Formats: sequence, C-alpha cells, structure tokens
Amino acid sequence: MSAQPSFDGAPERGTINFSVGQPSADLLPLALLAGGCERFFKDAAPFDLNYGQRQGDARFRTVLADFLAGASGAAVDPDTLMLTGGISQALDYACSRLAKAGDVIFVEEPSYPFAFPIFRDHGLEIISVPVDAGGMDVDRFEQLLTQYRPTLVYTIPAFHNPTGRVLEAAHRERLLALSRQHGFTILADEVYQLLYHGTPPPPSFGTRIAAGNVVALGTFSKILAPALRLGWIQASPEPMQRLLASGALISGGNFNHFASHVVRKILEAGELAAFVATLRARYAERAQAMDAALGKHLAGVVRWEKPGGGYFFWLELPDGTDAATLEAAARAAGTGFLTGSACSNAGGLRNCLRLSFAHYSVSDIHEGIARLRRAFVR
Ligand SMILES: Cc1ncc(COP(=O)(O)O)c(C=O)c1O
Repeated sequence: MSAQPSFDGAPERGTINFSVGQPSADLLPLALLAGGCERFFKDAAPFDLNYGQRQGDARFRTVLADFLAGASGAAVDPDTLMLTGGISQALDYACSRLAKAGDVIFVEEPSYPFAFPIFRDHGLEIISVPVDAGGMDVDRFEQLLTQYRPTLVYTIPAFHNPTGRVLEAAHRERLLALSRQHGFTILADEVYQLLYHGTPPPPSFGTRIAAGNVVALGTFSKILAPALRLGWIQASPEPMQRLLASGALISGGNFNHFASHVVRKILEAGELAAFVATLRARYAERAQAMDAALGKHLAGVVRWEKPGGGYFFWLELPDGTDAATLEAAARAAGTGFLTGSACSNAGGLRNCLRLSFAHYSVSDIHEGIARLRRAFVR
C-alpha cells in the first residue's frame, strides 16, 4: 500500500509547493458568491431554508442542466441529474449504494490519490489498469475482465489526475459497450472536463448515459470554489434509481440544499460560463509557463508532456530513480511535489512525480521550477 498524502491546505509561506492541487487565492470568486448569496436572500421564500428533494432542488437541476447543455451542445434532462456534496462525497455515496465489501473496482494506474482511501473504506478490492497515451489502456482492461468481475470502474477521463491525459473517444465507446456486456458501472470523475486550455476533450460521459451503465460525477470545486462542497451526478436510469433509494435521503432530501440555492443564483444570472472562461485562460497561461520553465531548467533531467487542460504535469525521472529520495532536497530548496507512488495503488511509479500549476502565478511557477532544478541536479 502506498503512503497517502494528507490534505495540503495552504502551503507554508515562502515555499512554492507544486503538490497543492487547489486554486490560488486570486481565482477564488468571493464577489461572485457574495452576489449569489445576496440575490438568494433577496428573492428567497422562507420555505427555501427547509428540507428539500432527494434528487436536489428542481430549480437548481433545471438551470444546471441548461449550463451543462451549453457546455456540451447536448440536451440534458434535469431528471438525469442529482445534487451531491462534491465528487469525494459522491464517490463514497456511490460505493455505499452500488457495491458491497469484497467487490472489485478497477482504477487507473496512476490515479487520484484521495480516491483510494474512499474505495478502501468500503472494503473494495482495487485492481489497477495502466494508463497510456490515450488514457486507460482498454486492451489491458479487457484482459483483466477474463480474471475479474468488477462491480465498478473508476476513471478520470478528461485531463486525468495525475497524468493530464484524455481518454480517447474510441476507448470511451469500448468502455461503454463493455459496461453493458459485463454489467459493471462506470464511475466517470469529470472534475476537469470544462477546464481545457484550447481544444475541448471528447463529450463527457454524462452525455452518454443512455449508452451504458454510467455514473458521471461533476463538481463546482474546480469551476467555482472547493469550499462549496457541491457537485452533481448524471446517471443512467438503473444506477440513478439505486442512488436515490437511500435512507439518508429520505430524511430531509439531498445533502447540500443551501449551497445549491446560492449556486443556482449564479447559474441563473449566466455568470458561471464567463468565470470558467477566465479560469481556462489563467490555467492555460500557467501550464504554458510550467512547460517553458521545465524546458529551461529540467530538459534532459525529466520527461513530461504538456497537458491540454486540468491542473497537472506528470514528470518521469530516469528508471531506477526514486522521487521520494528527492523530497527532502526539494523542501530545502523551498519547493515540493507529489510523488508518483502516492498516485499508485501498489506504491509503484516511484520514478514519477506530479506537479500542479493551478496554485501559483506565472512568476512563482518559473521560480519554483528553478528551485526544483537545484534539488534534482546536484
Ligand atoms: C480527480 C479528482 N477527483 C475529485 C476531486 C475532488 O473533488 P471534490 O472537491 O468535488 O470532492 C479532485 C480534486 O483535486 C480531483 O482531482
């Protein structure tokens, strides 16, 4: 089992810690949320502060459906949407409703480090499927299906955490066909779907819920603010029924009505699309800066690909190098990274590391990568 990183919170002052996968302060929209709150309290009926519907407030789901349709170009039925407390909560919830202890879940290798403890909490057997240039290696996936009968398959199809890769359209179709054939449910974590820099990724799994057993997970954490702890599920009818048939929802309805009212006001005003466009532009500049800084300071020392969206660069050191042995030197140089082994279910990928470009300005990114060079080249 790999060592799990804990939640980073704010990095130490003076350090440029690229392990931090959260927005920088200048990209957290205080004014937008203040406006949403103000309009909610101005327009609300007292009943809006009461319990609510299991699936989440219908007005919220309607305006969210419009927003998602605008983003993908495909119509979205609000009844295919369910409110959540963000993707982490939704993953935990989906495991409790759709699987039982001892069931098998396929995950990508590497994958989002904080997903592993959720799956372990539910006693699931985690089987790793490698990621290649086109995302999850679907040939290997099919081979593993001759040995295992997964209940769930967890994938991060767009701007994967940590590799930044995108699951090819043809691989998506094969996964959907296999989910029909073998009866597993695809948990598609689409946290970075809208955060592309230039070319959008293929349409989200949310647009393909009729083509297989799909639970597509979205969140406002990376397109508005993590503290909202608000997201959504878009699901095929069968898993949706099972998600809604929960004792926890009978009591009071869904989990986060208040935050959904505030976000509804932002969506109704049409403000979210413009904010997401700003985020895309800022993150594109930061990714560009990181690519240029790596080229300047670490060419020939590490290998990397520039991602087309999301938050992360995945770096490979020469085979046999253990990134963990460089952590102390990086700290001493005033910087930091996440080891590849933290992103591996089996503690592998020791020669790899993940850098996030989301939390720092262009000038800090240049300085931080120069510091990494001092740690790596001695
Ligand atoms: C792949 C992935 N899934 C989920 C999350 C967390 O989502 P939420 O804040 O909605 O729980 C993150 C945050 O970094 C992530 O990278």
